[in-house]
Amino acid sequence: MTTEYDFFLGNELVEDPYPYYRSLRDRCPVLREPHHDVMMVTGYDEAMAVYSDTTTFSSASSVTGPFPGFPVPLEGDDVSDLIEEHRSGLPMSDQIITMDLPTHAKHRALLMRLITPRRLKENEEAIWRLADGLLEPLLAAGKAEFISGFAQPFSFLVISDLLGVPAEDQTEFSRGMGQAGNIGGTGGDSMQHSPLEFLYSQFSTYIAGRRENPRNDVLTGMASATFPDGSQPEVIEVVRVAANVFAAGQETTVRLLGAAVQRLAEDAPLQALLRRERDRIPQFIEETLRFESPVKGDFRVSRTATTVGGVDIPAGTTVMVVNAAANRDPRHFDDPETFDLDRTNARHHMAFGRGIHTCPGAPLARAEARACLERLLDRTSDIRISEAVHGPAGARRYSYLPTFILRGLTHLNLEFDS
Ligand code: HEM
Repeated sequence: MTTEYDFFLGNELVEDPYPYYRSLRDRCPVLREPHHDVMMVTGYDEAMAVYSDTTTFSSASSVTGPFPGFPVPLEGDDVSDLIEEHRSGLPMSDQIITMDLPTHAKHRALLMRLITPRRLKENEEAIWRLADGLLEPLLAAGKAEFISGFAQPFSFLVISDLLGVPAEDQTEFSRGMGQAGNIGGTGGDSMQHSPLEFLYSQFSTYIAGRRENPRNDVLTGMASATFPDGSQPEVIEVVRVAANVFAAGQETTVRLLGAAVQRLAEDAPLQALLRRERDRIPQFIEETLRFESPVKGDFRVSRTATTVGGVDIPAGTTVMVVNAAANRDPRHFDDPETFDLDRTNARHHMAFGRGIHTCPGAPLARAEARACLERLLDRTSDIRISEAVHGPAGARRYSYLPTFILRGLTHLNLEFDS
């Protein structure tokens, strides 16, 4: 299995990538795959080593890896200058996730001024209200397609609230976001440059408008946020950060919600246990993140030659840190292929990455998952998988997103008893 299938452009591994990760790791936790010459990091300690070494590893191609990759071969003992020369031509090059130090630190500080603990707390109140409102019609119908009926509108409305998008603009936002590009599709289309044009134009209007006419709202807070040295960012710099948060915070969370609710509906004893012992929901969420990591992995490119886990990595190598594989490394997690609610180190998972780019939205994703699960359990006495859509237990049919970046169900049909 190790070399037979093309993880990036083939469809064979979309449904169940885990045996592939295991077979890579069994051969070596740092192994070059032959189809696109990507060094696959599937071991936990090795993943940690790559994430922590920002001197050697650049995030310039963090989301897209080899597609399209750099326009020139990255040859030489030190390819730092080549990376700098060509980074602006790579997809998403204006977004924080592809920035390296020192630029990253400045933009990350700005981002953390938008997602303050206070703002997250205010947003959490909205999360519970939004969950209630969206569940209402689904529960009344007794059945629902959970991904489009709940998870997507929910994560969209939560981020809109976090960033203060005015209610009257939300429909247009939802339409505009539907036109965003397909990141990491196994179909091989490389992304257009800056697929977030819609968000950029909306947020530019908001931020510029609030700078001229401040109000008492979240957008005004964003418009007046400064860099750590006190200087005022350009409008476009604030806009980029807001657009990043908007784009990064949705599909990922949708997939977490899908995986969590699928398991709840598949496993009746576990569902009964969580109904009785609600305080175990946070642990359930962590184990879901470990077991079905919504982001399969992130890319890095080496500036100079190095070794990781004893394996030589030449300068200019594209590395994929496969979070989902590291999260099932038996050297770190006992019996990793078993979903275990009692696992004591589930929280060590790296579903949110590690190091300087570690996900700033993790508290929000956890809060969304918690509110969704609590409210579903509050309002139902039983949640089941629809046999009409997914087939009977033991012979289910599920379809997963055909991308090498995200792991998650495309749809999840449920039935509920109130
Ligand atoms: C379960 C849901 C989520 C998962 C699994 C997830 C996963 C990740 C991962 C793995 C990274 C690191 C990428 C890298 O190192 O190259 C990341 C970064 C990021 N995430 Fe999330 N994320 C989730 C939800 C969110 C939410 C809700 C938000 C917004 C509030 C968000 C905003 C971001 C941003 C802005 C970055 C870039 C940070 C930086 O480059 O410094 N994410 N996320």
